[in-house]
Amino acid sequence: SLSPWWRSAVVYQVYLRSFADSNGDGIGDLAGLRSRLPYLSWLGVDALWINPHYPSGGADGGYDIADYRAVDPDYGDVADLEALVADARRLGLKVVLDVVPNHTSDQHPWFQAALADPEAPEASRYHFAPASEEPPNNWRSLFGGPAWSRTPDGRWYLHLFAPEQPDLNWRDPAVAADFEKTLRFWLDRGVSGFRVDVAYGLFKDAELRDNPGTYSPTLFGHGPEQAMTWNQPEVHDVWRRWREITDEYPDTMIVGEVCLADPQEVALYSRPDEMHQSFCFRLLKSGWDTEAFADGVRSALDAFGSVGAPVSWVLGNHDKDRQVTRFGGGALGTARARAAALLMLSLPGSAYLYAGDELGLPQAVVPDEAKTDPIFFRSGGARAGRDGCRIPMPWNDTAGVGFSPDGAADPWLPIPADWSGYAVSAQTRDGGSMLTLYRRALALRAAHPALGSGEARVETAGDVLTVHCAGDDETVRCVVNMGTETVLVRTTGTVLLASSTSVRQSAGSIALPPNTAAWISED
Ligand code: BGC
Ligand code: CA
Repeated sequence: SLSPWWRSAVVYQVYLRSFADSNGDGIGDLAGLRSRLPYLSWLGVDALWINPHYPSGGADGGYDIADYRAVDPDYGDVADLEALVADARRLGLKVVLDVVPNHTSDQHPWFQAALADPEAPEASRYHFAPASEEPPNNWRSLFGGPAWSRTPDGRWYLHLFAPEQPDLNWRDPAVAADFEKTLRFWLDRGVSGFRVDVAYGLFKDAELRDNPGTYSPTLFGHGPEQAMTWNQPEVHDVWRRWREITDEYPDTMIVGEVCLADPQEVALYSRPDEMHQSFCFRLLKSGWDTEAFADGVRSALDAFGSVGAPVSWVLGNHDKDRQVTRFGGGALGTARARAAALLMLSLPGSAYLYAGDELGLPQAVVPDEAKTDPIFFRSGGARAGRDGCRIPMPWNDTAGVGFSPDGAADPWLPIPADWSGYAVSAQTRDGGSMLTLYRRALALRAAHPALGSGEARVETAGDVLTVHCAGDDETVRCVVNMGTETVLVRTTGTVLLASSTSVRQSAGSIALPPNTAAWISED
């Protein structure tokens, strides 16, 4: 089709540290990922998005970046990334990197220079406040605790996330200039675009001046006390500039993590001269709820349709509990995750698969002493944090699940005893596995443009959610029975794929059991 690849791409999210370890140190790395590219090609995805690969203080899973134009030694070096891009290209896979403009690591040279000298030019690239007994205001960090920490000489600095992640001051033109260098550095090395972290609001000086009141954001929006005006005019100027730059490189795209509650506000970031697309988090945030799913899908399609941008659908990522667990866990959660996969992969737009979701991985329980997430530490243990959805990928049924060469080394997060039961090796051979379902669905999605590129109409009848996906010469109906009773779907169409083997077709109708979805081709 003539439309650009990213409009209906299936992008596979790789949490680099947990995907494949090539050198036996228990940490996933670029060479390990490179060795697994044939698996991604076999699975049938179009691109991979790699979570941050950069030198980092390691305080927030790599989202505290100390050098934007380098590779953390844990993962390899720039040549390894270039080799990965070249191998991926040979397999028809595109590589998208993560980029974090909202804040740097406190280990970044800029912040270190600002700590050493309050008058250093780098100091104006952050939000410092003069020494005082109390912080400038009572804003809270998204990770819990105050959004202000003190420097050794008593000054305060702003961090909406962890203290190791000082917020950048985008008023200082040196900040924008450096990020433009970073975009070009990686685009020149053949990457196909960027996933932009915390893309909703880079300019905080107005809020600091005008709204010093209580501010307690949630990760996907604002706290009730203080709705920050995230959607500042200037932030759209930044995305227009980034779009100009990426448009100089063919076949590239930017997908934004715009964590705002209103999809119409989010869609503004994907106007034709801004980011190509951004995530719809509604399916990620809601439980197994027919109206929540229908409303999430409709509102995203309407909002992004109004600006002519595709929606980036996502059911799982490195920040939320695994969907099998979110949907109830065990056989129930697995059945629902299988049905949700067909729903997501039917919708027009791009679909993001989080590594391991194609295996039906559940949320793992990580012992406190093995936890690494600042959300756990800053909540004093009240919140479990995100380690449980970042466990190393199970490749085979040995004890070390094939994550490291011959099972050497202790993986950076402990591997649960039952993890080998989800391994790629066994699921590849099992026609009824989640992996086989994903692989079949991806192949059908590629063969039927109505899936992923159709005109969608969403309807609900009780607990049955139906998406009519109209292509040029075919309509595929995705029917999801989210209820507790088997439903009869009247159709003379053909079942392309069902999320469970217990779907029965008889003359003129299909019996769809609870927590099951089916793709029905109707001319
Ligand atoms: C990322 C999180 C990270 C936070 C701060 C989010 O968008 O997905 O993993 O903790 O930004 O960078
Ligand atoms: Ca390694």
